[in-house]
Amino acid sequence: MHTYIEDIAAHEGAEVTLKGWLHNRRSSGKIHFLILRDGTGFIQAVMSKAAVGDEMFKAADHLSQETSVIVTGTARADTRAPGGYEIDVKTLEVVGESHDYPITPKEHGVDYLLDRRHLWIRNERQQAILRVRHEIINAVRDFFNTRGFILADTPIFTPAACEGTTTLFPAQYFEEQTAYLTQSGQLYNEANAMALGRVYCFGPTFRAEKSKTRRHLTEFWMVEPEMAYADLNDVMDLAEGLVVSVVERVLDKRRRELGVLERDTSKLEAVKPPFPRMSYDEAVKRLNEQGLSFEWGGDFGGPDETMLAQQFDRPMMVHHFPAAIKAFYMKPDPARPELALGVDVLAPEGYGEIIGGGERLADLDLLVARIREHHLPQEAFEWYVDLRRYGTVPHGGFGMGIERVVAWICGLEHVRETIPYPRMLYRLYP
Ligand code: 4AD
Ligand code: MG
Repeated sequence: MHTYIEDIAAHEGAEVTLKGWLHNRRSSGKIHFLILRDGTGFIQAVMSKAAVGDEMFKAADHLSQETSVIVTGTARADTRAPGGYEIDVKTLEVVGESHDYPITPKEHGVDYLLDRRHLWIRNERQQAILRVRHEIINAVRDFFNTRGFILADTPIFTPAACEGTTTLFPAQYFEEQTAYLTQSGQLYNEANAMALGRVYCFGPTFRAEKSKTRRHLTEFWMVEPEMAYADLNDVMDLAEGLVVSVVERVLDKRRRELGVLERDTSKLEAVKPPFPRMSYDEAVKRLNEQGLSFEWGGDFGGPDETMLAQQFDRPMMVHHFPAAIKAFYMKPDPARPELALGVDVLAPEGYGEIIGGGERLADLDLLVARIREHHLPQEAFEWYVDLRRYGTVPHGGFGMGIERVVAWICGLEHVRETIPYPRMLYRLYP
């Protein structure tokens, strides 16, 4: 068995075998300093001519970046080493050579790197981001699994739109039909909640967004909980609990990665309940007070969200939006039907909306009217309307976009680094 770098501490003083890749090499006459990586970490392997003999020492002269190697040697504690340990090399075996690796330690442009994303992910920073992503996904699953929510998968091929007809990706479905890649599992989640009580789905979602912003992908992962017998307040409480739990978990388990990313963790430590909750009316007033000429009835753009969230050290919620700018399925406020019982959660530090959701329209006649007003094909929604025919109940839920959360928690400029292979307006390769 070989040893993984992350487990090296358990092998202090012992001979170990490491299997990985050469990340970097520095040589000084009689010693090679080899930085190895194996996916679990980085470690310096010190190869001295005296220990390995002339021949092996000479062979190591030419080792280039990303050569795959198997190294045996003794694990030694060293307080100056980044991981606390080094390896004194006894043998080194080359598994696969690597010539002219295209990503060198020098700076490369982002398009150059995205064209080589399949290699870029080997980079230390990119590995750290993907590890944080993994932790966030696990935290999300644990949160729901320990609170009585049942994972119920929703389809990716769907017959109709959920989040507006302008961002649908069509797919030829055999000879006769067009299917659309799902924008959200929500409608099926509602049916699942009527069967199982509390459910969630967690999968890829697709939006043909023509926007080239730092927050938009065309394929992104969304976790969506849905609860029967729940109102807008229940939805807001659940969203707050989830975000707090995810941030706590990353702070607890991924300090090292946050360190690699040079993330200011004090900003994450401030993410404690309660999150400020503000009506859309109030939010518009605040924007105007800040000197932004925002008119009631409009949807918030990136700068508006940034301005609103800047006033707080933790995520905030905006609720009771104008119904006209929200999806057909939102319940109108009985007291002011021009408002929808929807909520957005805005992340601090300018990261914008990470969660959207609310209470659903549970009334049969109102729902049918809304489907008509939105010019949606009624036949495709018959099954959804059935949920209001057979024992309708108040219910609600939300969707949280994983890539936006990863960008925020890691402190990244753009969502393109939050997923192994980002899909954007002009990017489908690799
Ligand atoms: O606000 P959205 O559109 O809400 C829904 O889709 C609801 N049906 C969810 C529900 O209630 N079950 O999207 C939810 C979240 C956003 O807050 C954002 O985090 C993310 O999905 N999101 C995107 N992330 C990356 N790229 C895009 N193009 C995204 N569009 C939405
Ligand atoms: Mg939204």
